[in-house]
Amino acid sequence: MSIKFDEGSGIFTLTTRNTTYQMKADGFGCLLHLYYGAKTEGFTDWGLTFADRGFSGNPYDAGNDRTYSLDALPQEFPTQGAGDYRSPALVVRDSDGVYGADLRYSGHVITEGKYTLAGLPAVYANPNEASQTLTITLSNERLGLKARLLYGVIPDKDIITRSAIITNVGAKPFTVEKLYSSCVDFTHGDFDLITFHGRHAMERTYQRHNLQHGSFSIGSRRGMSSHQYSPVMILASHDATETHGRCWGMQFVYSGGFCAEAEHDQYSQTRIMMGLAREKFSYELAPGEEVTCPEVIMTFSNEGLEKLSHNFHACIRDNICRGKYKHSPRPVVLNTWEALHFDFDGRKILDVAKSSKSLGVDMLVVDDGWFRNRNDDYRALGDWTADEGKLGCTLAELVRGVKAVGLDFGIWVEPEMISEDSELYRAHKDWAMIIPGEKPVLGRNQLVLDMSRNDVREYIFNALRDILDTGITYLKWDYNRSICEVYSHSDDNSKAIYQYMLGLYEVLERITAKYPDVLIEGCAGGGGRFDAGMLYYTPQIWCSDNTDALDRLSIHYGTSFGFPMSAIAAHVSACPNQQTGRITPLKARCTVSMTGAFGYELDPMRLTDDERREISGQIAQYKNDREIITEGLYYRLSNPESDNVCAWEYVMTDGSKALICVVVPHNHGNMPAVYVTPRGLTQGAFYRDIESGKIYPADAIMDSGFPLDMPKGDCESYMVRLERI
Ligand code: GLA
Repeated sequence: MSIKFDEGSGIFTLTTRNTTYQMKADGFGCLLHLYYGAKTEGFTDWGLTFADRGFSGNPYDAGNDRTYSLDALPQEFPTQGAGDYRSPALVVRDSDGVYGADLRYSGHVITEGKYTLAGLPAVYANPNEASQTLTITLSNERLGLKARLLYGVIPDKDIITRSAIITNVGAKPFTVEKLYSSCVDFTHGDFDLITFHGRHAMERTYQRHNLQHGSFSIGSRRGMSSHQYSPVMILASHDATETHGRCWGMQFVYSGGFCAEAEHDQYSQTRIMMGLAREKFSYELAPGEEVTCPEVIMTFSNEGLEKLSHNFHACIRDNICRGKYKHSPRPVVLNTWEALHFDFDGRKILDVAKSSKSLGVDMLVVDDGWFRNRNDDYRALGDWTADEGKLGCTLAELVRGVKAVGLDFGIWVEPEMISEDSELYRAHKDWAMIIPGEKPVLGRNQLVLDMSRNDVREYIFNALRDILDTGITYLKWDYNRSICEVYSHSDDNSKAIYQYMLGLYEVLERITAKYPDVLIEGCAGGGGRFDAGMLYYTPQIWCSDNTDALDRLSIHYGTSFGFPMSAIAAHVSACPNQQTGRITPLKARCTVSMTGAFGYELDPMRLTDDERREISGQIAQYKNDREIITEGLYYRLSNPESDNVCAWEYVMTDGSKALICVVVPHNHGNMPAVYVTPRGLTQGAFYRDIESGKIYPADAIMDSGFPLDMPKGDCESYMVRLERI
């Protein structure tokens, strides 16, 4: 039993393999948070303190007891207007414009299995995997508001998920103005906060800072999870390192706007929360209606950040990703974007296919530019029919031609967008999200389709069906601008931004259900929608439009805290790099791109014979390594932001093999020897370096490291393969 309720004390205990989460419905019906940390037994509320606190109000039912204040006590689902002046998880405005919702416990149920959320992606339990759900109901009679707090427990994964459903069970409408799924309060302690910030072509840069008094928040107002902030937040003890210390992680299973907050309050208590972005969200609920806040995945580790990431990785890989490619080998692709941009015809595609095939590539992905009138990025989005003039054949014929070469065929689409210069726009102006009477904000010269509309979704589904029915087995699903104005001709506009995401998920669900063997790679100008919501439908995501090997070290490092390597798509591109102008050795580009789902993004016809030989070897090597890369445990051996050696490692879960990857960005005169210190090897065992034949004692190299050959230039890279003997 992973969920227990103790009638006498009102304490709920959620237990996973290594963690315990406790809360209590107290005598006033307030749901107080008690504990989230290392596994413990018993029902006690030892951690609560009560004191008369000036200017921290007391609930009326506490009578003369001024020591009970929701402003000071740790809570599960703090609401605005109930005496807690910290940032709330729920803000409600009634039909008279009055704010406030004092919620009290009104029941709970414990059920077997992990809950699902209608229309939203969520963690699922696998067959034979234990899981339970706790639903706690909190109510407010005046408003006729019922809040169902959902807790899902996957004990073997050390995962607890949270979601919240608000229902109007009253007679009058009210509006939900802010809605979060998770809140964890810590009654004492000083912490660091780790978040991941960035920009287009430089996503998920690691940031760690000491949490001071006040509030710190990250989020996205862009209708997408965004390049700017990843929906992942980690609270860590000051001493937490990769292998030591306590840390708590939250990540949002949602691809739209989000907010994550960390507040260090007047009593030096800390609150962390995550949920929907407030901006453009104001959700009126008529009697009988409800709204669901998407799920937050939570995990705790008292063995440092590495274990925390392993928990997230296993959960995303096994309990979020679905379909044929959940665990099967990802194809090595050759993508035409950086190779050809818009400049190709059918003949060129076939030539590239033949040349790629002889290198060992599995799949040719024809990127942007294959559909009518799309010879630059100013037009034609929405018109998803092949440009037969440009291709010299139908799409089905091109697919057949590439397959005849022996490659699978993948294609780029950007289904949620519409160009003003398109047949679709000329026929359906009202399908674009433009506020009547306003000039729209353009992004890459394009507009966003209103995914909250049925007819739009139907159009997109049919267009994708026609494309996939030609025998295409891979879609790169792109999304190349942020949402700015939110307007729907057919819906309640206060809900449109949320309904947009439900609409997107509905189309993705239909496509993945009809084509379960098609691999969809998510993309949003690179990694602008790199989140667990998309990973529910697309098991890999184009990690960044930046293919520069050195920049990618930092992007992959930041991404690895919340996401498994199988989710990270990375390609070797030509030099000078198109984003940075930097020249790096082909070997380093390959070492870095082999991080996850691997491929090339260059014109194979322009390669020298030496490069062709090297690339054929790289592809053969990747095919040997891809199981350990996508299924093994991942270890960050250094921090590329601060260390002059960047190293990471994969270890088979049974410890039988390890792959250690190292890049030394800068060589120096008379350079000290470069040592790398692996982790996760079987203690007491010996390992052989497959290439050199050297034998290493696991305990010694995990303690003191082993030396690599001296670097011979900048960006020297190494891949060391160890096998247990
Ligand atoms: C986005 C993607 C790129 C490429 C282009 C095509 O920028 O991230 O990989 O597909 O669009 O227009």
